[in-house]
Amino acid sequence: MKATKIIKINPENPDLKLIKQAAEILKSGGLCVFPTETVYGLGANGLNSESVKQIFIAKGRPADNPLILHISNRSMIEQIASDISPKAEILMDKFMPGPLALVFKKNESVPSEVSAGLTTVAVRMPANKIALALIEECGFPIAAPSANISGKPSPTDAEHAIDDLFGKVDCIIDGGPTNIGIESTVLDMTYEVPQLLRPGNVTINMIEKEIGRIELPKNNSEIRSPGMKYKHYAPKAKVIIAENYDELMQLAQKYHSENVKFSLVCDRPTKEFECTFLYKSNEHLAANLFSIFRTADKNKVEVIILKAVEEDGLGLAIMNRIKKAAIN
Ligand code: TXA
Ligand code: MG
Repeated sequence: MKATKIIKINPENPDLKLIKQAAEILKSGGLCVFPTETVYGLGANGLNSESVKQIFIAKGRPADNPLILHISNRSMIEQIASDISPKAEILMDKFMPGPLALVFKKNESVPSEVSAGLTTVAVRMPANKIALALIEECGFPIAAPSANISGKPSPTDAEHAIDDLFGKVDCIIDGGPTNIGIESTVLDMTYEVPQLLRPGNVTINMIEKEIGRIELPKNNSEIRSPGMKYKHYAPKAKVIIAENYDELMQLAQKYHSENVKFSLVCDRPTKEFECTFLYKSNEHLAANLFSIFRTADKNKVEVIILKAVEEDGLGLAIMNRIKKAAIN
């Protein structure tokens, strides 16, 4: 058991004294959970293989799943990645900082633990004042996967990270709830036509508007982005997707009659059965999805029935996460 220090920091105006405390822990090789605009990250010095190894141990993460390096300014990229294409420059101008991770050819300074043996490295600049100040104060890129135990839903509030990682990390920064709620878009820039490895809040349309056509996920993306092959984001409860409102109601009726404890996630008020979570928009659902999963588990809900959303824009990313959670 580690002594885990919880440091509460104001996300709008981070206190540099507190940021320095967390940076000291990272500089001396420790693990520190920190907020980003997508989900909380479990950070370590991204250029130190011994520190990075600790991430895999704390999360129980398979060693063949590479990590994203988080940077606070563009000049940090040169140290870790090469062959930055003009298309990548355009995307960085537009979406950094933001929820887009770009995969580049890696430099030698990046430990093989970060890239899980691949010749590439994923780089992201988070749009969160605490994260940016922390990386800046460290002076090195921070390697960070989502701060959950492997296979569990990503943490969108400090409380989720505390539930999973208290006693396993040196510090947890509480910077309040994250605003986007699902992980970054991952785009592989090492191809002539960039390949989307994970859909996120930076949508296909937003990317194609800047750089033209990109390649959408195909089966081989599972090999190129090892993380995609694992069951993810899964609550203990069974997740069932209802294509439409009628199907949602039929499923609710079925589980009700079987005396199964269920929760309903819907886009309009329901009549017979109360909606557990009523979402107003895709953004609203994305921001709350993982929290809905975790709350259901806390309440010993057996089945979560979700109304499907349209699979475009942010909806593609939402359905990607829901479908993964629904795999048995
Ligand atoms: O929003 C996010 O990206 C969050 C926050 C903390 O930044 N991080 C996150 O990390 O979601 P993680 O480790 O849970 O997911 C990273 C994904 C995985 O699917 C991994 O396989 C993929 O990115 N990835 C990382 N490096 C890669 C590489 N060199 N080539 C292909 N895929 C890579
Ligand atoms: Mg993750």
